[in-house]
This record gives sequence, C-alpha cells and structure tokens, in this order.
Amino acid sequence: GAAVEVDISALKEGEKLTVEWRGKPVWIIKRTPEQLKELPTLDAELADPKSARHPDEFTPPYAMNEARSIKPEVLVVVGICTHLGCSPTDKFVAGPQPSLPADWKGGFLCPCHGSTFDMAGRVFKNKPAPDNLQVPPHMYLSDTKLLIG
Ligand code: FES
Repeated sequence: GAAVEVDISALKEGEKLTVEWRGKPVWIIKRTPEQLKELPTLDAELADPKSARHPDEFTPPYAMNEARSIKPEVLVVVGICTHLGCSPTDKFVAGPQPSLPADWKGGFLCPCHGSTFDMAGRVFKNKPAPDNLQVPPHMYLSDTKLLIG
C-alpha cells in the first residue's frame, strides 16, 4: 500500500482529521495540554500503559512514550478497535456522561462491546479489547506534513 501524505497545518487543538491508509481509517488528533497532562495519571487504570505487549506491531519505537507519539500533541492512531475491528467513537468529554464510565475523562469508546481507550489510544482494563490502538508507521516530512506508511 502506498504511503499517504497529510497536511496538518490547519488542525487545531481538540480537532481530529481522518485519512485512509491501506483501507483503514487513521486518526490524527491534536490534543490539548489538559489531555496530555492527564495521560500519566491514568496508567493504573490501563491494560497496557507502556504499550509493552506487542511493541513492534502496535507501537513503533518512536512512539514508545507517554503520549504514544512523535510530537506530544499530535496523536496518530488507526481508528479500529483491537477487539473485533469496530470503529470506536471519539468522546472528548470532560466530566461524567450518562452512557460512559463514571470517571472517564474521555478518549474513544467502541460501540460494539464497550472497550474504552484514553487520549493516547491506550485501552482501559477489564475491557474486551486486548491491545492499545495501533500507531501506524509514520514520520514528519516537515513541521506540518506527515507521511503515514
Ligand atoms: Fe470493540 Fe469489541 S470490537 S469492543
């Protein structure tokens, strides 16, 4: 499959861009400072906080960090649940919402069997999805140009 070039210069904080790569949706999300600050506080609630389970398959070496990204603010993940392949919904929520886990700070919710992921695509414990969302191979061609694949 061909690599995909993406211009992210117009992407604002709290926004998501979806591009297609090898027939899969890839999400590019510019996280807010608040969302980034929260990541280290969630480790105890996550199934694989350090993405150690399948490092090469789900998390390339350059994304083996707290934010799972090259630039801390820009998350790049494949928008496909690692359970049975549904596409999670983004819920960039603050505070409780009726249909969501009580203290969940937001991230991604899979509508099929209820797996939830944080703003780094890390799956919460006791959810059917076994792994964090995949960070696809990618690199920056310039400050605002990404190459996926
Ligand atoms: Fe996402 Fe089952 S496919 S929880």
